[in-house]
Amino acid sequence: MNDDNCILFFDSGLGGLSLFLEAKKLLKKQKFVYVADFLNSPYGTKSKKQIKNLVLSNLIQFCEEFSPKCLVLACNTATAVAVDFVRKTFKNIVVIGTEPAILPALRAGFKKILVLCTHATKEHNKLLRNYKNNQKLIFYCPNKLAGLVDENFLNKEKLMPYISKILSKFKGKVDAVVLGCTHYVLVKEQIRKVLDVPMFDGNEAIAKQIAKNVKKSNSKSSKTVFVATDENKQKYLEQVGNFLLKDV
Ligand code: DGL
Repeated sequence: MNDDNCILFFDSGLGGLSLFLEAKKLLKKQKFVYVADFLNSPYGTKSKKQIKNLVLSNLIQFCEEFSPKCLVLACNTATAVAVDFVRKTFKNIVVIGTEPAILPALRAGFKKILVLCTHATKEHNKLLRNYKNNQKLIFYCPNKLAGLVDENFLNKEKLMPYISKILSKFKGKVDAVVLGCTHYVLVKEQIRKVLDVPMFDGNEAIAKQIAKNVKKSNSKSSKTVFVATDENKQKYLEQVGNFLLKDV
């Protein structure tokens, strides 16, 4: 494996871009490929078997095409269901997953923490099982939110009525929020308008883990390749990705 090979990010849609940006800040000369499986999104309401098959079939196809040195499941849902299978399938590639940042929120001493994640993450993430009876945690799965973020990224304010409708009931009842889905990080500011409390996500820590685990690249061309599995969304993905990259 060549040090200049790419790092491949995978998510059902735009959410993983929130993690990709953190990694890009640390690895400026690195080639990245970002794959969004719009054709099959959202993942969070699908069955374990469906998610596993989608993750593996996509990764097999894109690893063949791009030969990455590292695979990042930039999706809590895909990680919860499929990270073990991905590690077994791609033994020679560094595989990094994404988990809800519950531990940092607990360590910071918060007493009522709202954990927002998809249904599939709540059901299948092994770590979450340890927390199911923890009195400090309230789990909530806003099933439509990831899809709405994908559709309305360029006009996030349009999401305010929905975000307000689903989260207002927690006002004054929680003192921190864990954003346990990479899509939710993209609407952190909109969520803050309803719940103005400290928010936790794992993106920065995971980006550091990626940087630590891959051999440094000095590739001259560090242009990011964006791939949407739904051809009709290819331009949209490039537009959003390049827009976000401007701040890096
Ligand atoms: N971005 C994803 C996550 O972190 C999944 C969203 C979805 O497709 O439901 O869980």
